[in-house]
Amino acid sequence: MKKEVTVHDKTFELYISAEKIQERVDEIGKAISAEFKGRNPLFVSILNGSFVFTADIMRACDLECEVSFVKLSSYEGTQTTGKIKTLIGLDNNIAGREVIILEDIVDTGNTLTHFLEILDTYDPKSVTLVSLLTKPEVLKDRVKVDQIGFEIPNKFVIGYGLDYDGLARNLKDIYQLKEG
Ligand code: IMP
Repeated sequence: MKKEVTVHDKTFELYISAEKIQERVDEIGKAISAEFKGRNPLFVSILNGSFVFTADIMRACDLECEVSFVKLSSYEGTQTTGKIKTLIGLDNNIAGREVIILEDIVDTGNTLTHFLEILDTYDPKSVTLVSLLTKPEVLKDRVKVDQIGFEIPNKFVIGYGLDYDGLARNLKDIYQLKEG
């Protein structure tokens, strides 16, 4: 694994190894399996960034479950635009389902807050939030995430599904923006 990578104009340094990510994913998968066994939960994966996490979480779960994908966007470059659009909506029958939302990262929580409002109108039985990463300094108590992989400082990260202007989603490890 590389210690540093350059993407577009910025340099990023190794932050969380693929091995550490898989350990946490396995732990979260076991916890979800124990809680939802026999209840056929519906994973709702928020694209684009969550596709890698979703694939790994589903395979770390030993239970009957389904998956659906939703696409939202809120970022341009490394700054939030504050404008959130729903690009691809929910197509499954959500009413009465136990929904587990899978996010790659919850930063300000704007995306999730907006999505939870939409989801509520579909009348799910329960909603559980799972995010690989959160940035508590930014999020504060705005949204309660039930399962968190890693709490990280307020620095831009890439890899394992996370991008910088479209690139770096394919990196196995997570890298953090290098200052200066
Ligand atoms: P929020 O609405 O501020 O919570 O941002 C959520 C979305 O912004 C995530 O699903 C990511 O797509 C993107 N995002 C936030 N922080 C980062 C980061 O550090 N790296 C890459 N994408 C990020």
